[in-house]
Amino acid sequence: MAVSHWLLTSVLFLLPFIKQVSAQQQGCSVNNSRPSVYENNSPGYVVTTIHVESGFTVTIDPTSPDFSFFVIQGSELQLSQSVDYEENTLLIVYLICQDAAGQSDSLEILVIILDVNDNSPVFKQTNLTEFVPEDTKVNATIVAREDLSATDADLDTIFYELTTIVSGTDGYFAIKGVNNPEIYLQKALDYERFKLTTLILYARDRPVGSTETTNTATATINIFIEQADTKPPWFLPCTFINTDNSICISSPYTGKVNISEMSTEPLILEPGPIYAIDPDYTLNEKIVYSIVG
Ligand SMILES: *[C@@H]1O[C@H](CO)[C@@H](O)[C@H](O)[C@H]1NC(C)=O
Ligand SMILES: *[C@@H]1O[C@H](CO)[C@@H](O)[C@H](O)[C@H]1NC(C)=O
Repeated sequence: MAVSHWLLTSVLFLLPFIKQVSAQQQGCSVNNSRPSVYENNSPGYVVTTIHVESGFTVTIDPTSPDFSFFVIQGSELQLSQSVDYEENTLLIVYLICQDAAGQSDSLEILVIILDVNDNSPVFKQTNLTEFVPEDTKVNATIVAREDLSATDADLDTIFYELTTIVSGTDGYFAIKGVNNPEIYLQKALDYERFKLTTLILYARDRPVGSTETTNTATATINIFIEQADTKPPWFLPCTFINTDNSICISSPYTGKVNISEMSTEPLILEPGPIYAIDPDYTLNEKIVYSIVG
């Protein structure tokens, strides 16, 4: 026990000497040779402090890979410019430590650049227009995922949200998922209810409700509903039996003839002459009449 204690004491006693000797050989040292720095630093940001012993001078090796980013101010190694993580994730610089006799030594400093959420998601197109036939099947894709996917230079996961700014048109269009912006038809369309709507798609680089800095992009999607030949012609006059005026029921036409007389006049009908219209009026389809019985 006594021996080992003596040994330990000697080693501890010797250590400062060893350290001192090696430091003197080098002449220069830094507080931190692997510092981390957040991107978008201001110029003059201190990367580390340099200790130079008397008789030595320190300079930046001009052959350093990232020489142009660094400057020595007094005893500080500083960044001379702002660094963008999206361009540089690591900067390498060598310090040359020289003594009076011209002997020199090199010290490698690796500066690790840390990412900051400083880029917004970007849509390829921020304004889209789609024409959607009224009889489009529920679940059909209205706008493909690739047309609506946003990119983010910070490589963040993007969270999407779809809303509409036209009242009464909610719930018809939806996105496939919070990370999938494909727009599909969620509910059957009816040209009589609305003929156009405007959707707003948000792309955020943090989930809704995150306390972190969130960058948001928006895209506007104008949807025009095209009338389809979905309804049969209506004989007039007719009475709407539902509130959205999509079903119209006509009463039978009636006329009178005298059984024993040959009439030469057109038959007079009640409640009016035979006349039908096509409720899908924008299509301007021709109406063809025939007597079936
Ligand atoms: C639409 O898709 C959902 C989910 O896949 C399914 O439950 C539903 O039956 C589909 N509706 C129609 C009309 O195809
Ligand atoms: C049928 O006969 C009656 C009596 O002659 C006449 O008043 C009436 O106008 C006739 N109706 C038609 C539809 O011709």
